[in-house]
Amino acid sequence: MTLYSEDKSTALEAMEKAQWLAFAPVVFQASRALRNLGILAAIEKRRLAGITADEMEQECNLSHYGTRVLCESGLAIGLLYFKNDKYFLTKTASFFINDKLTEANSDFVNDICYKGLFDLEKSIVTGKPEGLKTFGDWPTVYQALAELPEQARESWFKFDHYYSDQAFDGVLPLVFSQSPKNILDIGGNTGKFAFQCLSYSPDVKVSIMDLPGQLNMAKQAAIENGNENRMGFIEADILDENLQIPSGFDVIWMSQFLDCFSDEQIISILKRCVNAMNDNDRVCILEPFWDRQRFKASAFSLQMTSLYFTNIANGNSQMYHSEVFAGFVKAAGLETESIHDGIGICHTLLVCRKKQSGK
Ligand SMILES: C[S@@+](CC[C@H](N)C(=O)[O-])C[C@H]1O[C@@H](n2cnc3c(N)ncnc32)[C@H](O)[C@@H]1O
Repeated sequence: MTLYSEDKSTALEAMEKAQWLAFAPVVFQASRALRNLGILAAIEKRRLAGITADEMEQECNLSHYGTRVLCESGLAIGLLYFKNDKYFLTKTASFFINDKLTEANSDFVNDICYKGLFDLEKSIVTGKPEGLKTFGDWPTVYQALAELPEQARESWFKFDHYYSDQAFDGVLPLVFSQSPKNILDIGGNTGKFAFQCLSYSPDVKVSIMDLPGQLNMAKQAAIENGNENRMGFIEADILDENLQIPSGFDVIWMSQFLDCFSDEQIISILKRCVNAMNDNDRVCILEPFWDRQRFKASAFSLQMTSLYFTNIANGNSQMYHSEVFAGFVKAAGLETESIHDGIGICHTLLVCRKKQSGK
């Protein structure tokens, strides 16, 4: 698929788009205000008849002035249109208030990224997550997760889980095609994938390797749902180069994990996987690669998410292009056995094995 082609826009179209960029933060906050103050919902309730500004003031309990400026911005943004003295919703507005993906993205950008992004330029120059300072003094967001303010934490998990949850159902038959008995989930977070594996197969055991904050959440959840006997919990900082990955797992699973690391760090993690593997073991990597998306909107979301990694998460990782990533797999001494696209809303599964000697 060609996502990007030569620019065929007219000067007027280009000038208009440039103004969208200049006012992008205003567009974003105005859209959220239209949603959060109930204006979009009030109009949606009278989808066919439309609603006057006066009726909206009453229904949303807003001032005449407040209603007017927000609705006028809604016209400019393309969320509203105006006909016979009444406001109506556009299709974009319907997505903005009803689509779960849009909600997860928008809440994540607002609650996690918005303030910190003021220092994006600095992050590019220093290679550090300068925006994370808006929350406190941590080297990466992963040490901070368990301690983020409630609203921010909720939006982080909603974003993360929205993407990976939808992928897990589709991927289980592929992961279990060779009936693994022992799975290691590196970066297993709160245990969602592990618990799905345990429900999928009564014979499998799953160990989670993660930082202490997330590992404790997973352990707690396992105790609550009675799964702790079939699980292992390995507290580890994968960035510690001396940390060896334990052997004895027929599948090493990493979902939305390697995008948390830089080129060199990914190669080091994968090399340590190789050291732990025998020839029958597999590394299964689930990642959203921006170049393997069917739709431009998906690629756009992933490319923008990369800048969250730059500015908030750790300063040196991203959502990767699949060919760049393939270079890491090869450099670590792995070979890709199969590639499965179209998993969940945007993921690709790479099934890798140790490079066979002589190749
Ligand atoms: C983006 S989340 C992915 C979670 C889960 N695998 C999923 O698919 O939703 C990345 C996970 O990697 C963990 N992680 C990040 N840096 C780590 C490190 N240095 N050592 C161990 N785990 C780490 C985080 O705590 C988090 O649980």
